Amino acid sequence: MTPPLSGTTRSGHALLIQGGIPLAGEVEVSGAKNAALPLLAASLLARDPVTLHRVPRIVDVEVLLAILEHLGTRWSWTGPSSLTLHTPELVSVFPPPALVLRMRASFELLGPILGREGEAELTFPGGCRLGPRPIDQHIRAMRAIGVHVTEIEGSVTAAYRQPLAGRVRFQIRTVGGTRNAIMAATLNATEVVLENASTEPEVLALVDFLNQLGARIFVTGDTITVCGVGALSGGEYNVIPDRMEAGTYLLAAAATRGRVTLHGVEPTHLAPVVDQLWRAGASVKLVAPGTLEMDARSRALSPLFVTAEPYPGFPTDLHPQMAAFLATVPGESRIVDRVFPQRTAYLPELARLGARLTWESDLADFRIGGGPLSGGEAHVTDLRAGGALVIAALAATGTSAIAGIEHLERGYQDLERKLATLGATLSLKA
Ligand code: EPZ
Repeated sequence: MTPPLSGTTRSGHALLIQGGIPLAGEVEVSGAKNAALPLLAASLLARDPVTLHRVPRIVDVEVLLAILEHLGTRWSWTGPSSLTLHTPELVSVFPPPALVLRMRASFELLGPILGREGEAELTFPGGCRLGPRPIDQHIRAMRAIGVHVTEIEGSVTAAYRQPLAGRVRFQIRTVGGTRNAIMAATLNATEVVLENASTEPEVLALVDFLNQLGARIFVTGDTITVCGVGALSGGEYNVIPDRMEAGTYLLAAAATRGRVTLHGVEPTHLAPVVDQLWRAGASVKLVAPGTLEMDARSRALSPLFVTAEPYPGFPTDLHPQMAAFLATVPGESRIVDRVFPQRTAYLPELARLGARLTWESDLADFRIGGGPLSGGEAHVTDLRAGGALVIAALAATGTSAIAGIEHLERGYQDLERKLATLGATLSLKA
């Protein structure tokens, strides 16, 4: 099954949003895109069936399932968000480039294919509007643990003969680089030690999943040790809640001065966002296990200085959405992104909706705020930029037309339905 070309049914459409309506109501948060994708890739390491629950129904999942099918995986939806995958044997070690190029996360197939078969070949993933997205740390780590890696115009070939072993210190915290090395070493390694490893929730969820299938992976601070186990059993696993989706709804409610309740969240993962909302003057309470209530009605909100950093810092994937919220707050806020310093392509689009920006360089270090936002036309440059523009449109006076909504379908399940449930007035315009 080849997925729709990222929402072809709707690409070219614009989302019309009537602004100025405070969001109110309750929504359920879906499973995390950035946890589900690596778990789908990691399922290649098991010869027996694996069932994942709370898998978001989004385009990126459809694309990865299409790639896995080419590799020999049989899969089926066994519930609204439950997916069973079975790869009795890999029929290829070379995922189809046309599909790989549609999504950077597909580069995390390198580790599991290599781990299962001892060899792999992958096309370089595309960069995107976040700036250059090199893979030097992936390759450096693989080589350090005994993988022979060659880079030939646009693709990477990797192979190893002896069990993997060695210690490597990442020169930069990399989610994908850490996960690729873990998956490469899970089956056939004596001992691999990864230092300065990423410990984002979406990395630790992969470790937990693999250990549930019989792997031996140990996390101590930012050091991850992998001891190979030869084979993994099948099993079941629940995908963790999507902290980026949850944060987007919290910030949308704050930007519209509304009150929303989110069900199915993991509060600890949202602590960096909740902390900033409290500092701004909103009220965020845990009203039941997994249920957060955010109230920004008639609150005098204050500007913030937010720095995006690796977890437990404020997440880079919520920096654009935070900018949209802070654009509505009196005074001058400042945002710095230390993970993707060039994550700025969305700023001119935010300015088209009235955001007041002071921005000296082409780096993501800018001042924003003072409101009010005014409805207009804007174009989505990438998934999280889309979240920011939707928030700005919801907060603006008047109607906005947000084009490029196929980006939104990559990572937000049922976005329009959930926003309508919260009282937003929106429609599609061809
Ligand atoms: C993951 O991307 C997420 N994607 C991203 O979410 C997220 O923004 C990012 O981690 C945050 O760290 C998935 O999980 C599918 P990185 P990843 O390797 O792994 C530099 C979204 O919208 N770097 O942690 O690709 C890199 O340039 C997406 O859901 C190197 O220099 O990110 C960046 O500055 C966007 N060399 C920093 O490290 C490398 O070899 C963090 O990148 C690898 C990365």
